[in-house]
Amino acid sequence: MKALVFHGPGQRNWETVPDPSLQDPTDAIVRIDTSTICGTDLHILKGDVPEVEPGRILGHEAVGTVVETGEAVTTLEPGDRVLVSCITSCGRCRFCKEARYGLCTGGGGWIFGHLIDGLQAEYARVPFADTSVHKLPSELTDEQVIFLADILPTSYEVGVLAGRVEPGDTVAIVGAGPIGLAAVMTARLMTPGRIVVIDLADSRLAKAREFGADVTINNGHLDPVGEVMELTGGLGADVAIEAVGVPETFELCADLIRPGGRVANVGVHGHPATLHLERLWIRDVTITTGLVDTFTTPKLLRLIADGRLDPTPFATHRFELDEMTEAYDTFSDAATTNALKVVLSGHPVHLPAGEEVVGAVA
Ligand SMILES: NC(=O)c1ccc[n+]([C@@H]2O[C@H](COP(=O)([O-])OP(=O)(O)OC[C@H]3O[C@@H](n4cnc5c(N)ncnc54)[C@H](O)[C@@H]3O)[C@@H](O)[C@H]2O)c1
Ligand SMILES: [Zn+2]
Ligand SMILES: [Zn+2]
Repeated sequence: MKALVFHGPGQRNWETVPDPSLQDPTDAIVRIDTSTICGTDLHILKGDVPEVEPGRILGHEAVGTVVETGEAVTTLEPGDRVLVSCITSCGRCRFCKEARYGLCTGGGGWIFGHLIDGLQAEYARVPFADTSVHKLPSELTDEQVIFLADILPTSYEVGVLAGRVEPGDTVAIVGAGPIGLAAVMTARLMTPGRIVVIDLADSRLAKAREFGADVTINNGHLDPVGEVMELTGGLGADVAIEAVGVPETFELCADLIRPGGRVANVGVHGHPATLHLERLWIRDVTITTGLVDTFTTPKLLRLIADGRLDPTPFATHRFELDEMTEAYDTFSDAATTNALKVVLSGHPVHLPAGEEVVGAVA
């Protein structure tokens, strides 16, 4: 099969590799029908995630069709259409029993395109298949559900729920990439009073307004703290969601927050940030961090099925799976291409004998 292989920092190639096969009885083999690229894949290519070894197939977000199941898999069969999300769950460890799948100690957690081969490929081996994939209703298209594989549950769980967004709140979101915009989309489920989005790029701020931001601030030109203080009678935001991952933006969130407010950090940080406890200690500020668990994926899927949530505007560019190289070039040059998420469609050309196409993308 073909797959996107990481060959060390700066080096990736769409190339022929051996087909995956069942290794454990709890595995399934899934044919990838739709895949996408994440900002985290770009971090890996920069060399920021040293656990990813050369030779690794990247990707951790896909919709696919089960083609083979191990003998211990009881709830899936060939032909089932499934969401394969960034988080895998062993279903048995302490953290999985607390629905904190991101912290799984039984071999799950974020493993695709990280510790095991990932989903930017024609086929993938999916461990702990029964407890990890989500079966999809046939009436939903791949493009409606693919963003449930990472960005929507990430922003909802680590941003909106951890930050305890409540009706009427002023929510400040720093960073308007896919994660910040997914925070805008899912914060709206809580009916906040006002969503303020802060970014350095005017094109991203325009997107934020399309996604439902009420106020946008370019912090390259304006003082975001002064602006938010003016909007909130000098108090600050009720919730600040950090969706960039650099020290300045975390420190900005701590400056934007009102006494008793909540800072929810979603960004992946590579460097230490300064925590101004000397200013924060007396203000009852709560700070949360986290890796997505995906415990809200079933709920978000129901919201999509019920027409309450429409993630399709994230799809700005479409490619065939075979055009992976062009897709990476487009996604990594977002400043020029205005890409949010690229959608890669596989074509069911390598069907094993007897297999039917179930709910594949048109
Ligand atoms: N916690 C998790 O589980 C989890 C999961 C997925 C992604 N992430 C992280 O979330 C972060 C955002 O992801 P993304 O895909 O949206 O990234 P992105 O790079 O597409 O978007 C980041 C945005 O931040 C803006 N920005 C950069 N510096 C800024 C500054 N100083 N002030 C204001 N805005 C600034 C950029 O213009 C851009 O629009 C990344 O760090 C990513 O690794 C975390
Ligand atoms: Zn991701
Ligand atoms: Zn576990």
